[in-house]
Amino acid sequence: MAENSFFSDKVALVTGSSRGIGRAVALALAKAGADVVVNHSKPEGSSKRKAEEVCLEIGELGRKAIAVPADIGSKSSVGEMIEAVSGWRGRLDFLVLNAARAPFKPIEKLLERELRQLVETNYMGNIFCIQKALPLLEAAGGKIVFISSLGSRFYNPSYPLGSMKAAMETLVRDCAESLGDRGVSVNAVCGGIVRTDSFKTLRQYMEELESIPDELCVSPEALADVVVFLCSPAARGVRGQTVVVDNGLSNRLYRPAWVKKPKS
Ligand SMILES: NC(=O)c1ccc[n+]([C@@H]2O[C@H](COP(=O)([O-])OP(=O)(O)OC[C@H]3O[C@@H](n4cnc5c(N)ncnc54)[C@H](OP(=O)(O)O)[C@@H]3O)[C@@H](O)[C@H]2O)c1
Repeated sequence: MAENSFFSDKVALVTGSSRGIGRAVALALAKAGADVVVNHSKPEGSSKRKAEEVCLEIGELGRKAIAVPADIGSKSSVGEMIEAVSGWRGRLDFLVLNAARAPFKPIEKLLERELRQLVETNYMGNIFCIQKALPLLEAAGGKIVFISSLGSRFYNPSYPLGSMKAAMETLVRDCAESLGDRGVSVNAVCGGIVRTDSFKTLRQYMEELESIPDELCVSPEALADVVVFLCSPAARGVRGQTVVVDNGLSNRLYRPAWVKKPKS
């Protein structure tokens, strides 16, 4: 999306923006004119290196960026991240809750440790971020955008993250009501199939994903554009909604293979 004066001097925090969809969202918000906090999970290694690369790309767009490591599943780590945001620019206008991590296996096979991590990272982590960022968001009349997935609505045998995304979409409605009166808008984007690192892992467990044609996959940039829209004044009438961005994939799920297409 083109630069928009509304975004100038505003600050976005995108959780998990060292790669994949989060990276595309960070770059799209920077292209629109915002400065960006690039969150990643680990203080060292490829996590740090990739986040720094995203910051360099944002710098090349003429915007400012800092990389801040924080495990969103840890309340104290999230608290330190928000302190870093506050110390950097003293404001936060957009909080994009994108970070996610989950094992790909059936729910009945999850180890206790995996189940706890699933909930801590993908449910509690987002709530920690909202709780800690709320004073800054309230001061700015800010926006929160969650990133959900079609697993919130459709069964996938190796995708326990789906139940966390269903909870997320309920949180979107709850938070839109509870935070709306405090001047903070809350919405979500629900993505279809995006060929990121996590997709590459998932397809090892679900071979049928390989047969989804390219035209029914969606690019990280297409999702990112809708996030920018939801952060913009053009979305002022959108509240508590989850916008599906999937290139029409979910429309096809009800067209089983044994039903022939009508002749046109
Ligand atoms: N790929 C898809 O098909 C698809 C479709 C719809 C929705 N989504 C959703 O879009 C979001 C991004 O997905 P993706 O495919 O881009 O994922 P990805 O390529 O696996 O990237 C995940 C990002 O989240 C970060 N992260 C993981 N755990 C974290 C934690 N505890 N604290 C902070 N950051 C953490 C990672 O940081 P490190 O680099 O430090 O590991 C990385 O930046 C997720 O919410 C996912 O559910 C994905």
